[in-house]
Amino acid sequence: MASGAGSNFEALVRACRQGPLAATVELLVVNRMDCGARGRAERLGVPIQLLDHQLYPSRDDLDRALIAAFQAQGVDLVVMAGWMRIVTPVLIGAFPQRLVNIHPSLLPSFRGLDAVGQALAAGVSLSGCTAHLVAAEVDAGPILVQAAVPVLAVDTRASLAARIQVQEHRILPLAVALAAARLGTSGIEGQQR
Ligand code: GRF
Repeated sequence: MASGAGSNFEALVRACRQGPLAATVELLVVNRMDCGARGRAERLGVPIQLLDHQLYPSRDDLDRALIAAFQAQGVDLVVMAGWMRIVTPVLIGAFPQRLVNIHPSLLPSFRGLDAVGQALAAGVSLSGCTAHLVAAEVDAGPILVQAAVPVLAVDTRASLAARIQVQEHRILPLAVALAAARLGTSGIEGQQR
């Protein structure tokens, strides 16, 4: 699931195709066709489905459409790779322990929007990113993997976000493997249980 540039989506696809992640990305769902993730999916040959949130009367209705899309593809695990909509217990309940989110801060610090700006405003010397299982509360739930990124005196929002993204691309595939391992299938090639 992606709403933005889709760099985490691409990192996941590459980890499946070139890296150690024993998985396939069956579907990309976007909520706006003008997002960068769409072009990446087209280049990578991953099927795309548009679920425009504006066409659904409630968050629950959008989540029900997401569930139908994923079930139609036989999806085991869902990744929110920059999905800029709040999800409800409807989606969380349909994929228990199988819904992963990536957030650009060391949770539980700096939940919500503009986490990088929040970290800069707070003057922390260390920030980073967190991949976690999704709970009903926004940017909360069991942590799977974190990576720390030093905040430099010269950092702007853009420079810090760029260094954090490098780490996001590294930890998101690891988090998917860990989530799979918690379900009893390792997700790492050669280590199937
Ligand atoms: C990432 O920084 C992620 O932490 C946040 O949204 C951003 C998505 O970036 N949830 P991209 O679209 O994967 O490039």
